[in-house]
Amino acid sequence: MKPSESLKIDAFSMQIADVQNVDLDRLHALSLSVGWPHRAEDWQFLRESGQGFVALDEIGRVLGSAMWFPHGADFATVGMVITSPRLQTLGTGQWLMKRIFDRIPGRDLRLNATRAARRLYLSLDFQPEKTVYQCQGVARVPTRDVPAGSRGDIRTLETGDVAAVIALDAAGFGVRRTALIEKLFAHSAGYGLFDGKKLTAFALCRPFGRGHVVGPVVAHGDTDAVAIVRPHIANHSGSFLRVDTHIENGEFAAFLSHAGMPVFDTVLTMSLGKRLADFSDDRSARPKTFALASQTLG
Ligand SMILES: CC(C)(COP(=O)(O)OP(=O)(O)OC[C@H]1O[C@@H](n2cnc3c(N)ncnc32)[C@H](O)[C@@H]1OP(=O)(O)O)[C@@H](O)C(=O)NCCC(=O)NCCS
Repeated sequence: MKPSESLKIDAFSMQIADVQNVDLDRLHALSLSVGWPHRAEDWQFLRESGQGFVALDEIGRVLGSAMWFPHGADFATVGMVITSPRLQTLGTGQWLMKRIFDRIPGRDLRLNATRAARRLYLSLDFQPEKTVYQCQGVARVPTRDVPAGSRGDIRTLETGDVAAVIALDAAGFGVRRTALIEKLFAHSAGYGLFDGKKLTAFALCRPFGRGHVVGPVVAHGDTDAVAIVRPHIANHSGSFLRVDTHIENGEFAAFLSHAGMPVFDTVLTMSLGKRLADFSDDRSARPKTFALASQTLG
C-alpha cells in the first residue's frame, strides 16, 4: 500500500519538572531552538542563581522552561521563559507562568519581555516600564577622547569591595540582591571608580553567550559610566562584547555605538506589582543602572 501523504499527530501531554533535575544539554538545546546565544555554562550559572520549571514530554525532552530569581522576601525577576517553536501559541508559556505565580504568590515581579512574549505578559497583567537596548558587536576603543569630568580613581575591584558593590547595585536596581551580586562578582572582572575610599561607580564583565557581557554597571552619570566601562572595552578589543542598557541616548549610548556595539535588538522591561526601580531619564545625583546583569537577571 502506498504511504499516505499526510500524517496527523495528536497533541501529547507534558509533565512539569524542576529545572535543577534535567540534563544541561537538554536545556541548552531548548534555548538554541529559539536562537538564543546561551552556552550550557550560562544555564548552569542561572540555575545556581535561581529556581525554575521545565515542561517535559514523554521521553524527557525539554519543551519549555520558566525561571525566577528571588531577591529578599517580596521580589523576584522572571526569565528563561521559552517554549519550543513547534509548541508555541498552544498555551505552554501561560501554563509555565501560572506555575510560577502559584509557587511565589504575592511577590512583585520584573522581567524583560521579547517582542514574541509581550502579549503573553500583558495577558498576565504585567505593565510596560522601559525599553532595553541590546547593544553588541566587536568591541573597539573609540578614538575620541574620554570626556573630562569623571571624578576619582579607577581601579580593579577586589573581594573587599563586594559589600560596596552590592549597596550601589541596590541603589540602581531598586532591590538588594546580595547573593546574586556575590556570585556575579566571583565570575567577573570588575572596575570601580573611587572618590577617596567611597565607591561611586562600578562595572562588572563576564563570559556569556558569544563572548563577554558588561554588566551590571552603576554610576552617577554618563561620564562616570563611560569611564568605568572603557577599560573592559580595551580588554576585549577585537572580540564580541554585549551591553544591555535602558539608556536610549546621550553620552553613554553614543559611546557604546562608537565602541563597536550598536543597538542589535530591544526588549521591554515589564513589572507586576510595585515598581521598584527608577527608570526615569533623570540622571542627576542618584546612582543609576547603566547596564543590566543580563536580560534574564535584570
Ligand atoms: C514567548 C513564548 C515563551 C510564548 O510561549 P507560548 O507557549 O507560545 O505562549 P502561549 O501559547 O501560552 O501564549 C500566550 C498568549 O500569547 C498569545 N500568542 C502567543 N504567540 C502568539 C503569536 N505568535 N501571535 C499572536 N498571539 C500569540 C497566545 O494566544 C496567548 O494569548 P492569550 O493569553 O491572550 O490567550 C514563546 O513564543 C517563545 O519561547 N518565544 C521565543 C523565546 C522568547 O522570546 N521568550 C520570551 C522571553 S521574555
